[in-house]
Amino acid sequence: MARKTLVAANHKMNGTLQSVKEICQNLNNAQLDPNVETVVAPPAIYLLAARETLKKEIAVAAQNVFDKPNGAFTGETSAHQLKDASVDWAILGHSERRTILGETDETVASKTKYATDNGISVIWCCGESLEQREAGKTLEVIAAQLAALKKEVSDWSKIVIAYEPIWAIGTGKVATKEQAQEVHASIRKWLKDNVSQQASDETRILYGGSVSEKNCKELAQEADIDGFLVGGASLKPAFVDIINCKK
Ligand code: 13P
Repeated sequence: MARKTLVAANHKMNGTLQSVKEICQNLNNAQLDPNVETVVAPPAIYLLAARETLKKEIAVAAQNVFDKPNGAFTGETSAHQLKDASVDWAILGHSERRTILGETDETVASKTKYATDNGISVIWCCGESLEQREAGKTLEVIAAQLAALKKEVSDWSKIVIAYEPIWAIGTGKVATKEQAQEVHASIRKWLKDNVSQQASDETRILYGGSVSEKNCKELAQEADIDGFLVGGASLKPAFVDIINCKK
């Protein structure tokens, strides 16, 4: 089964009600490649506005979701509330949440299990620091992150993996296509060896980290790169060119 390309916008903590609506309207009006699944993750406060503005073919993602049912969890959002608001996706395990908010591999795995068990598709992020890459530990770090996820999750059908090397995020220093492909291929092999041939064949693996309309075409040609998780460039009109990178 061919994997459908997926391109997701991670707005992070940026934007205003007006700018989010404008971004959504621009996407509605653009000619988007019908062979690409597009997902938009605005800040939590703008999720409803994004869902109301975007046409139904474009999905909306939260940037976080908690691993408990509704209840006394101040400041958190549940998977059930996302479903109620027609928000079908969540990004989990982004390196900014891991490093700044202190989320562990175990927390991220638990949230991913709870979300996927309750009908939310997850863009699960992994990636190494510059120090880890320079120490030759990239594949080991990613394998450990995946192993923590596997301890919790048995159904991988609602998981999309995003490989985001920390040194490439927001730095303008994109991974080369060889660097990205090497890690993506190793993730696919890990899925084959540790989960199943089906998970290896069907799980989409996105690249994230300084993706732009200029570098996306080259990256998209690599065999194991199935799309992108885009930060800064997703706030600009050029995001459309990234969605259309294979057109
Ligand atoms: P940039 O595209 O701004 O480097 O951000 C990448 C990212 O963190 C997406 O989740």
